[in-house]
Amino acid sequence: MTIATDSNLLIKPIAGALGAEISGVDLATASQPQIHAIREAFNAYHVLVFREQLLSPPQQKQFAEQFGSLETHPYINGLEGDPEVVAIIKERDEKINFGGGWHTDMSFLPRPPLGSLLYALEVPEFGGDTLFSNQHAAYMALSDTMKAIVDDLVGVHSAASQYGRGGDSEKRNYGSMSLEVSDRAHQLAEHPVVRTHPESNLRALYVNRPFTESIKGMRKPESDALLKFLCRHCEQERFTCRVKWEVGTLTMWDNRIVQHYALNDYQGQRRHMNRVTVEGDTPR
Ligand code: OGA
Ligand code: MN
Repeated sequence: MTIATDSNLLIKPIAGALGAEISGVDLATASQPQIHAIREAFNAYHVLVFREQLLSPPQQKQFAEQFGSLETHPYINGLEGDPEVVAIIKERDEKINFGGGWHTDMSFLPRPPLGSLLYALEVPEFGGDTLFSNQHAAYMALSDTMKAIVDDLVGVHSAASQYGRGGDSEKRNYGSMSLEVSDRAHQLAEHPVVRTHPESNLRALYVNRPFTESIKGMRKPESDALLKFLCRHCEQERFTCRVKWEVGTLTMWDNRIVQHYALNDYQGQRRHMNRVTVEGDTPR
């Protein structure tokens, strides 16, 4: 199935749950009608994949700015001269990758990002795909009784497990990526466990393993059990799509409604992406 838009974009869904490939557009010179069509597709498919793009860091930023102001990552240094662009690199001799588990980007911020745009500069010969999971579909698949339980709950998030003292960044050596370890990472942010997408009004689960520490007002065993159930529920294959990268692929995802997972199945090979992140609003 391929859908043609007014502005001559071709939209090809890549899975039943979410995700579409879009062709017929050069992101470096996209017209306003094309941007408009991309925005609509973004709200419909949540993950958009563009192939064979040639984007310098300023061009990637310029395209991303069509969707909002750009974020600078609180704990990762950006490129010199383009601080909003973060290089996501795994060298041949590194064992652990960045984003190698289901997560939502920066849900530890009071206003987590709207989304991220990841552009492939160097990809392994095989492996290194990225998985995405539709958190609206995951919410809808809950029973009405469970929906009623989670609907008004509040999640407590922080960056501590990744960027705090004793966190992953301290334990791991990402080598090529300089990840800061900071006391600031222990600051807490509270977000609804089920959020409403500000543009589509879709309800989506908004908890993730690395950053959601607890459910507000619950005792630890209660909170741990519920979070474990929700995180496992969210990660089921039926809610996912899978993006295979080529040099020149740009994938953008809606952080308000998807989780993602960078597979680490390409040991001994180098992978290099540039990421730009767009600011979001307060989850409601
Ligand atoms: C990220 C991330 C996924 C990937 O940049 O936020 O999780 O496939 N990356 O590199
Ligand atoms: Mn990520």
